[in-house]
Amino acid sequence: MTTDWNEFGFNTRAVRAGQVRSDEGEHSEAIFPTSSYVFQSAAQAAARFAQKEPGNIYSRFTNPTVRTFEERLAALEGGERCMATSSGMAAIFSTCLGILKAGDHIVASQSLFGSTLTLFNTILSKFDIKTTFVNLSDLDNWRAAIQQNTKLLFLETPSNPLMALADISALHEIAHAHNCLLVVDNCFCTPALQKPLSLGADIVIHSATKYLDGQGRCMGGAVIGPESLVGKDIFAILRSGLSQCHDGTLRQTSTARFIVG
Ligand SMILES: Cc1ncc(COP(=O)(O)O)c(C=O)c1O
Repeated sequence: MTTDWNEFGFNTRAVRAGQVRSDEGEHSEAIFPTSSYVFQSAAQAAARFAQKEPGNIYSRFTNPTVRTFEERLAALEGGERCMATSSGMAAIFSTCLGILKAGDHIVASQSLFGSTLTLFNTILSKFDIKTTFVNLSDLDNWRAAIQQNTKLLFLETPSNPLMALADISALHEIAHAHNCLLVVDNCFCTPALQKPLSLGADIVIHSATKYLDGQGRCMGGAVIGPESLVGKDIFAILRSGLSQCHDGTLRQTSTARFIVG
């Protein structure tokens, strides 16, 4: 039986969502520090690799501990699907590579975490994905920067480190009027304070390293959004480092998975 976490309050979701108790009846989550899994037969392994049968295969993309983290964060953000990554930057990189292709354009806030600026400015630009940077709080700036090939609007609110703010609902209107996806890095607030999906964002990004961890002990990241995006083109980057663009060409990358623990 699957649980509809919408029926439960935030605090219950924060401690219960995604937990699968084993036959041992453990009170808290069991941790699975395993790279891979055993199969009952070669036929079962073949069926799992071919995605004809559900089940664990290899911990970069299927691990029960990581699944608990993903299901809990999806329940907290109110998203259909969450994909955990090795870091916040891996979450941003996977999202961009999953959604964009050469020739596409991003409009991004100029008030972003430094490595995100570098990713857009100097790395994605090598693959002919250009970015126009705008004032986070100035809606006219966002509108004016959108081009015919713009696919993605990207922001943090509050931004790191300046704490500048954006109106997510207004940016949702602008993005969708131009067939663009709105991606919000929610690292500073966490879903305890702000749920961008409920305000119209298409995808939420986390660096789990910050307030989500809260203790300065973990590296991690996450992408949350609809199954049709996170579970398909974005997950394809994590699963194989390969993603098929809409024009049929393939892109390659590698984003290591992290294990919460
Ligand atoms: C807002 C924001 N996004 C993304 C990142 C990148 O996350 P990570 O360091 O986990 O790769 C950071 C890191 O400080 C951040 O502050």
